[in-house]
Amino acid sequence: MIANNPLRDPRDRRLPQIAGPCSIVIFGITGDLARRKLLPAIYDLTNRGLLPPGFALIGFARHDTSIKDFVSDVRDAVKAGARTPWRENIWKQMAAGLRFVGGAFDEDESWERLVTRLQEIDDERGTGGNHAFYLSTPPTLFPMIIARLKKHGLAEAGNAWRRVVIEKPFGHNLNSAQELNALLSDVFPRENVFRIDHYLGKETVQNILAFRFANGMFEPIWNSNYVDHVQITMAEDIGIGSRAGYYDGIGAARDVIQNHLLQLMALVAMEEPVSFNAYSLRIEKQKILANARPPERMDLHTAHAQYAEGWAGGEEVPGYLQEQDIPADSTTETFAAMRIDIATRRWAGVPFYLRAGKRLGRRVTEVAVVFKRAPHQPFGSNDVEELGQNSLVMRIQPDEGVTLRFGAKVPGTAMEIRDVNMDFAYGGAFVESSPEAYERLILDVLLGDPPLFPQLEEVELAWKILDPVIEYWARCKNIDTYPSGTWGPVSADKMLARDGRVWRRP
Ligand code: BG6
Repeated sequence: MIANNPLRDPRDRRLPQIAGPCSIVIFGITGDLARRKLLPAIYDLTNRGLLPPGFALIGFARHDTSIKDFVSDVRDAVKAGARTPWRENIWKQMAAGLRFVGGAFDEDESWERLVTRLQEIDDERGTGGNHAFYLSTPPTLFPMIIARLKKHGLAEAGNAWRRVVIEKPFGHNLNSAQELNALLSDVFPRENVFRIDHYLGKETVQNILAFRFANGMFEPIWNSNYVDHVQITMAEDIGIGSRAGYYDGIGAARDVIQNHLLQLMALVAMEEPVSFNAYSLRIEKQKILANARPPERMDLHTAHAQYAEGWAGGEEVPGYLQEQDIPADSTTETFAAMRIDIATRRWAGVPFYLRAGKRLGRRVTEVAVVFKRAPHQPFGSNDVEELGQNSLVMRIQPDEGVTLRFGAKVPGTAMEIRDVNMDFAYGGAFVESSPEAYERLILDVLLGDPPLFPQLEEVELAWKILDPVIEYWARCKNIDTYPSGTWGPVSADKMLARDGRVWRRP
């Protein structure tokens, strides 16, 4: 049964491909991302037998700590976040490869300690000089760390490989992204740079390509002849929690539209790639991003707002400005929406509406392709009063699946037609739980397998789309609000109403 499960990582279905001898160095090991995602993912990979026996994980952080405390912190993080069952022998295997280096990132002594530690690991655990450097720090530290990797001779090593993994945000506009790309290409060859967009590691995001290109019935209608518009929604019910330092000044558009939502849009809109190798995929995504136009009328076709106090999970919650460490005059948006048009023959006249926000009604990410109405309907207007437009909804999370919404006759003597759903749910069709995005992405880094990592061109094209929107918002003096627990500001509803459309209520 498991062998036939198409959701499994393909490497598990064939002979599992195990990463060769190597280690990973995580900068910012004490941070939220490392604790919640990276460490559990490394345990899960160990548990699935996909890491080499001598694998080592070196935590590098500014605050010094004893190896005993470090191991205990990692254990807590794994226990809290791992997807696969806890097994003491697997944990012991992982713990044997844990090392810690403490010290300031801008001091040579810390780096010398790291160099020595890596040499020891190569000797003790046979990692063969193959090391991945994972930058999970605030983005302001990226340039310094990259420069130091070069200075201390860590960016190259004869026949061994050296790879660098960059977390988002990749710059805060086109200029800064270009500067970072220039710095990176000065230190690492292009093929050794892995930019993380964790949405690309999600099974359901990869399924967009399977859905479109493995089936014959959808592609013929996947164009402006049949599609009215597309809505891409990433709604979260959480607020910013303790992430003020990261989030304020960044906002929803830079945080998730520049990367996750524009990547989703590219996957939904792109032409069929010649193959699924990294090069062919990126070429097709780039064509979409290069042809995507920011809204012509920013005032009419964008919306941005901040959450005010309201409700979440049955509890009263504070507004953004009342969150810890947020300046009282902050104008950072926690909700962003915009209309994007793609100037290609396939998509001309089909708007893509993107929206993302925190403290919305519930957590859901989905892509809804909304079709045009039938050109003629041989029914009375009362019969089809409750009939909407056909739509195909790809649910990325949390309730992973695909829904087709169409009209059906209401049982009875009258010809009354109403919308119904036809549903596919991953949970019902496949027995195995999907690997976490970070499991897939970390393994791909260690295998040197690049298709799921955006290339510098994609990142820069995405900023080109977003920069004018963000600059326009920066010029707006005031920012709209929406009560926590609702579906965003009135301005977002108005934005769609102007085009004669409404947002879906997922
Ligand atoms: C991250 C954003 O990239 O994605 C966060 O920085 C957001 O603000 C998170 O909460 C959501 O990820 P997921 O996988 O839970 O949809």
